[in-house]
Order: sequence, then C-alpha cells, then structure tokens
Amino acid sequence: MRDLTPREIVAELDRHIVGQADAKRAVAVAIRNRWRRQQLSEEMRGEVAPKNILMIGPTGVGKTEIARRLAKLTGAPFIKVEATKYTEVGYYGRDVESMVRELVENAITLVRESERVKVEEEAKRRAEDRLLDLLAPPPVSYDVAADSPDSPDRYERTRHKMRDMLAAGALDERKVELTVEQKGMPMMFSGMGMEQMDVDLQGMFEKILPKHSTRREMSVAEARRVLFEQECEALINQEKVNAAAINLAENVGIIFLDELDKVVASENTKGADVSRQGVQRDLLPIVEGTTVQTRYGYVSTDHVLFIAAGAFHRASPSDLMPELQGRFPIRVELSDLTKDDFVRILKEPKNALTKQYTALLSTEGVTLEFTDDAIESLADYAFTVNQSTQNIGARRLYTIMERLLEELNFEASDMKSGHVRVNAGYVKERLDKITQDEDLSHFIL
Ligand SMILES: Nc1ncnc2c1ncn2[C@@H]1O[C@H](COP(=O)(O)OP(=O)(O)OP(=O)(O)O)[C@@H](O)[C@H]1O
Ligand SMILES: [Mg+2]
Repeated sequence: MRDLTPREIVAELDRHIVGQADAKRAVAVAIRNRWRRQQLSEEMRGEVAPKNILMIGPTGVGKTEIARRLAKLTGAPFIKVEATKYTEVGYYGRDVESMVRELVENAITLVRESERVKVEEEAKRRAEDRLLDLLAPPPVSYDVAADSPDSPDRYERTRHKMRDMLAAGALDERKVELTVEQKGMPMMFSGMGMEQMDVDLQGMFEKILPKHSTRREMSVAEARRVLFEQECEALINQEKVNAAAINLAENVGIIFLDELDKVVASENTKGADVSRQGVQRDLLPIVEGTTVQTRYGYVSTDHVLFIAAGAFHRASPSDLMPELQGRFPIRVELSDLTKDDFVRILKEPKNALTKQYTALLSTEGVTLEFTDDAIESLADYAFTVNQSTQNIGARRLYTIMERLLEELNFEASDMKSGHVRVNAGYVKERLDKITQDEDLSHFIL
C-alpha cells in the first residue's frame, strides 16, 4: 500500500480520467483518511469509520473508472458489484454477504501475487534441481572407485553438463514423467461459476474431495512449468497469505456498489418494491460494519470503504433508507462530458483510444496518425449521436472509433507496410452517412 497524498492520488487519476475533479478529490481524501486512521492509536483507530462516497452521475462519465483506477494505484483489494443483482435471484436476491467473500478472494489474489514474486527465484532453482533428478537420477548408491560410472565425481560432472544443457533449452523436447495432483470438482458444478454460489461450496468441496495424484508424461519444457508451480505452492505459506489477505481486505478493501439508485422504491412499481427495500435493509449491516464468515476466516467490514454509484435520474439519494443515507456522507456529482472532454479523452489519457489503435496497427507494420481536425470531428460526431440517440457518455467513442477503423482493421494485415493519415475528410467519409441517419445510428453506433 503506497502512502499517496490526496494531491498525488488526483495527479495519478488525472493520467487516466479527464475532468471530474470533485469526484477525484473526494476519493483521494477517503483514501488518505484510511492512511491517517492507520497512524492512530489502536483505541482511536477502532472508532474512526470510513467516509463512504456516493457518486451521482449519468452513464459513461467515469464513475466506475475512477474507483477502479483508485484501487489499482493504491494496491487495494477491489470489487464492483451491482446492487440490483441482489434482487434477481430468489426473493431477496443473492446473499449480500457474498460481496465480502468476493473482496477477500480479490485480496488473496493480490497477496499471492506479491508473495509469488518473493519466492520465484527459489522456486525456479528448486524446480531445476528436481528436473535434473528426473533427467539424471542420482545413483542408488555411490561407488567410490573413481573410474566407476557411479562415482560421486562423475555423477557431479554429468549433472553439471545436464544443467548447462537444460539452461540452454537443449533438453526441452525430452520426455519425463511427473506426479501431478488434481483436485476433483464434481462435473455438475464445474461450469457454474463459483462466485455465484451463495454458500461457500467450493471451500467445502476442496475439504471433502480427496486429492488424487496421477503420473503423467510430458516434455521437459512443460515439466519445468509444472514443477515451478508446485515449488511456488510449497514455498508460499498459505496460512500467512490468508491472514494477510483478510487484513488487507478489512483495512484497505474497496467495494464499488453500482446502481444503488435502482434499489430505491418508486411510487409506480409497487410489486418489486418490497424486494428493493429488502435489498437496502440487507445492505445496511454490511455497510455499517459486520462480520462475515469466509473460507479464509472471519472478515469484519467495519473499515471497508464503500463507493456507491448511480444515475439517480428518477430517484434521489434522499429516497434511500435514512440509515443508508447516513452511511454515505460524501456526495459527489459527476458532470456530463462535453465535446471538449471527448477531444481530450481521445488523445490524452495514458492509454487513450487513439493510442490503443495506433499500437495495435503498428504490430502490422502500419503507422496510424490522427490529425487534430480528425479528433475534433470524431468528438463532434460522438457528441451529436449521444444527443440524437441515447447518451452513453464516453462509451460512444468506442463505437465511433470501431466504425471509423473497421475497414482498416480488416485490411491492415495485407498492407505489409504503410502510413495511414486519418484527417477530417477520412472521418467524414466513413461516419457522415451513418450519423445523419438516426435509424442507422441506433444500430451501428
Ligand atoms: N472522464 C473520463 N475520462 C476518460 N475516460 C472516460 C471518462 N469517462 C468515461 N470514460 C471511459 O468510458 C468508459 C465507461 O466509463 P465508466 O465505466 O467509468 O462509466 P460509468 O460512469 O461507471 O457509467 P455507468 O453508470 O453506466 O456504469 C470507460 O472505458 C472509461 O475509460
Ligand atoms: Mg459504471
């Protein structure tokens, strides 16, 4: 976890997201507050509740993107869930506690990745030793006579030679036999997507089912990977990973709760309202702080940061249950994106769309260039189509760009080399007719 100041966090977010200054500031402060809390005495630390954030804004203006980038740059466990998901299954919908389990899974992945980096070198060394044992098994007993093939000296020399050959990849095609372990998962569940299970079935299965080992023949190249994985597993202390992951999830975890506005009861849809209110009621303890059982241990949500989002077109935040409102004290509004924002989004962010397409086509030996007037024109089309059909925010840029470059994307592989200059004329030629025709735009853009 890096100790970034709010200003540094905003600067990092600025590299990826255009505008939305208020939202960036709010999340930056929330993150810094967690660091501040960590510096307090234990007694005080327990008292400080996270200041959860409610992001209000239309679709496609950067709500999710801000939260996702934030998690990434701070190294925090992060998951995004839709509040509405908890109404679709059964009466109350999916068990709300499953979001905490998901968060822990994410934390486990993060911790394992960083633990792996630490043991990689050692695991590589051990895997190589085991490979050598397979390729040149040590003699059952050494023969001290120096000229015997089983003398320690000779064996060492063989092994040394083998090691060099192995390193050079000269033995990659050879076959060896290995014991591999398989954890059996009943076929009937294997396609279900574990995260959809309300109770922790996966954990249960792993405990119940016997691990079976099988002998398999494989190439040295493959064996090297398998052995490396096995050694990594052996070197990583699973208990330590679990404890660290729970700690990480509890203290710096972020849950992004999307579509919160959709679980507000409205006047004219009586039937569904009961379950919507039900979702709010179910969410409350999680947001207020509760303890959830996961396969890795108990997790307290007291200090998990919740960032909720919604368009709040019809409903307003004051239609939420009062207790829930109180749990999201920080409100930020994200603004509609302007044509100028689109211009910037197209070219400024670190991995802006124009940069992505340019990079993709460069792999075909084609250099792609966008002139400024082309970008202006693209932004203009995106803005206009958003007005005339449906406003989907910056997502419109994706459909526009795809349409613009459809032909080139197909042809580029046969062009061998070339330079393509996209100017306003190029854009007009490919987009004018479609954007003029509202019906066509509906389908194609
Ligand atoms: N301000 C922005 N700067 C740069 N890119 C943006 C911006 N807003 C949106 N985008 C891009 O548009 C896409 C959609 O944005 P995002 O997922 O953040 O929308 P959202 O506000 O969460 O919308 P929804 O309410 O539909 O979930 C993302 O790929 C994102 O990179
Ligand atoms: Mg979103």
